[in-house]
Amino acid sequence: MIAIGSDHGGYELKQEIIQYLESEGYAYKDYGCYGTESCDYPEFAKKVGHAIINKEAEKGILICGTGIGISIAANKIKGIRCALCHDCFSAEATRLHNNSNILAMGGRVVGPELALKIAKTWLETEFSDEDRHNRRINLIED
Ligand code: RB5
Repeated sequence: MIAIGSDHGGYELKQEIIQYLESEGYAYKDYGCYGTESCDYPEFAKKVGHAIINKEAEKGILICGTGIGISIAANKIKGIRCALCHDCFSAEATRLHNNSNILAMGGRVVGPELALKIAKTWLETEFSDEDRHNRRINLIED
């Protein structure tokens, strides 16, 4: 299950990502927002982050205007490793090295075609599970 959320600044890109998830057969749940009316990104970061911590979802995708505020808010939740990525190299590396459980992007930063490639790369890359990466992740979590 993929938990997805955005504020108004990420709403349009979120709709594109949802279409992609549907076309690829991913199970997902949209935690809002549900329109372009101005709203507060921490609310959706918390909903998606808690869905992962509560094991309702394995991974999440969060989108705001820049991806910055929503990723900062998500990373306040213990156990969340939210990676803000605007390129495919970072999307792959953060799954391999950080086992990131949320991908954040900025709807005002990347166009839909690049965003979909970033999401595809992130969703399809498994954690390397190498000792050095597990050790470093554990050092974050103390
Ligand atoms: C909303 O205007 C904007 O501040 C928000 O989407 C995001 O970019 C915050 O980091």
